[in-house]
Amino acid sequence: FLQPVILSGGSGTRLWPLSREKHPKQLLSLFNEETMLQATVSRVQNFVDDLPVSNKSIVVCNEEYRFITAEQLRAIGCTEQTLLLEPVGRNTAPALTVAALSAISNGQDCIMLVMPADHNIADTPAFHRAISAGLKHAVADCMVTFGIIPNRPETGYGYIEVGASQDTFNTRALLNFVEKPNAEVAAQYLASGKYLWNSGIFMMRASVWLKAIQHLNAAMYEACVASLHEAKMDCDFVRLNKEAFENCPSDSIDYAVMEKLASQPELAISASVVPLDAGWSDVGAWDAVWQVSDKDEDGNSSRGDVLVEDSRNCLIVSDSRLVACLGLDDVIIVETPDAVLVTNKTGTTNIKRIINRLNAES
Ligand code: GDD
Ligand code: MG
Repeated sequence: FLQPVILSGGSGTRLWPLSREKHPKQLLSLFNEETMLQATVSRVQNFVDDLPVSNKSIVVCNEEYRFITAEQLRAIGCTEQTLLLEPVGRNTAPALTVAALSAISNGQDCIMLVMPADHNIADTPAFHRAISAGLKHAVADCMVTFGIIPNRPETGYGYIEVGASQDTFNTRALLNFVEKPNAEVAAQYLASGKYLWNSGIFMMRASVWLKAIQHLNAAMYEACVASLHEAKMDCDFVRLNKEAFENCPSDSIDYAVMEKLASQPELAISASVVPLDAGWSDVGAWDAVWQVSDKDEDGNSSRGDVLVEDSRNCLIVSDSRLVACLGLDDVIIVETPDAVLVTNKTGTTNIKRIINRLNAES
């Protein structure tokens, strides 16, 4: 069966002031009533193919968010989830490793569909078609990534050099994977036309992931085995053992495994890239929220108690008060009870400067 694995550990600081340590991006509703976590879980529940989707998703998150995460899942009728709780963040590779160990523990080597909890996908049917295409490769023990056609030299993404087409869906061989190249290299990759962005969504058999991580980072594998073996069951929660997980090396799926696959022929794991053309966005900053939001005829998108006059292409988010926007173009306003952000669309990518100052001053 197809096992959804949801990585729900980020903080989404670039969506300040709405996202905070206490309210990370995946737990917010940015586009409609559903939060991004809820949308991620719902998105795959109605997927149909030869292989059924397990209605029991595995969600990996920090233990601090266990109640709100469980509550949000319950609210959409998911009462049978496996919630794996991390005592500390160790990035995505350990999160996926404990999920794979948990998935395989009932003796079935399922196919994991690994999804970040904080991405937006506008076209669910197109996403489902991509999953179907990927499944054919994942059942054949291939590591599957989903690739996006790049449109700018973004340095925050992984770049995948793709080779020959492998099927009618135009799934391509993964030739090389480079995580977060510098600006110069990213520009070269973009110009070459040979690279796709890594969407951060993956599909593989649990055993294939475990074989890779055991080979490439044995210390991580052992720490994850120990943290799950010594885990405490607490209601519906699986609390990973703190000491073991703290001792786990920290690394991402991309650096720990994806970058290394092509250069490790002895591992004998092949990788494929399924093209994903489904309105994918990782909603990294406020300008991306504007991009994917519904807009009025003047290109304005607003949420909450908002009045807009004589303005174009603005994003206005009101959390607690009436916000009136008059005579503005390309402006972003995000109001919360204790902080208001006013910026333009190019400013939103530099929001880390504000966060750093706030952290330095507190
Ligand atoms: N459970 C858990 N624990 N989840 C985590 C952790 C963790 O320690 N760290 C991050 N996550 C979750 C985040 O919530 C996010 O949904 C996802 O894993 C990816 O982590 P990011 O930290 O957002 O990664 P990134 O954006 O720098 O890069 C990844 O995504 C890009 C596309 O958005 C990489 O896969 C890139 O190659 C990719 O292009
Ligand atoms: Mg991200």
